[in-house]
Amino acid sequence: MRKKLVVGNWKLHGSLLNNQSLINQLKQDLHGLNWVDAAVCLPYVYLFQAQQLLQDSPIAWGAQNVSQFTEGAYTSCISAKMVAEFGCTYTIVGHSERRALKLESNQIASKRLLHALHAGLTPIFCVGETLDERDGGMAEMIVKNQMLNVVYGLDDEAFALAKKFNMVIAYEPVWAIGTGEHATPEQAQRMHAFIRYMVSERDPEFAQQVRILYGGSMSPANAQSLLSMPDIDGGLIGRAALVAEDFVEICRIAEQCHQQKNTPKEPSRPAPVTWA
Ligand code: 13P
Repeated sequence: MRKKLVVGNWKLHGSLLNNQSLINQLKQDLHGLNWVDAAVCLPYVYLFQAQQLLQDSPIAWGAQNVSQFTEGAYTSCISAKMVAEFGCTYTIVGHSERRALKLESNQIASKRLLHALHAGLTPIFCVGETLDERDGGMAEMIVKNQMLNVVYGLDDEAFALAKKFNMVIAYEPVWAIGTGEHATPEQAQRMHAFIRYMVSERDPEFAQQVRILYGGSMSPANAQSLLSMPDIDGGLIGRAALVAEDFVEICRIAEQCHQQKNTPKEPSRPAPVTWA
């Protein structure tokens, strides 16, 4: 049974002072979650702070990217091994904001993915189409192309690591990120099912286990409808992750959705026979 996963992507936000108060509030309010893993992905410079504040809590932390290089003369790059030293569980890879800045092709994203796995991190590999691509009927083709790096780009050894470290996939339609306009639950479910199908082509067992997150304007107002879809296993949250109450609320909704999905239903009974 897949546990839900809710990850805050803080992007380019934070300060030592604000982080401390946000993290302390999350530590205080995030409890009673049996079927939800929660994590925050912060800017690199705050990973040490996150480690200090979160190491004795159930909340995990991670980076927002890792370099495609392991070491060498690459000014300003941060390697997967380096972030692993700060106790990170996760790293995001291939976020569309990185792709849009033209810093990350599918090939580069797949190298980053590989280094993350070799450093023992759980990558959250992002895929998603732009509005033009969706309007042009190409959404599935684009996502398929991005997924090929994961499904077929990894050799057997790397795929075994992906399974061992429970690689996560995040479907983030670009048009829904930061716009307040989220994908409908049906649109998202359709793409999540397609992604799971693609994973199943490589490894049917892992396909049942891999967690596929939705990202793009997820909020307490829409989380219930999205998270109750069968193939949506959690959220990658931007804006709402910066407000402790909203992030906690989404985690609570995820817990309820998990319970509802997994509560055995009463078998339907035939209508009682009435005797005249
Ligand atoms: P928003 O939740 O702000 O739309 O951001 C989503 C996202 O990009 C998470 O990685």
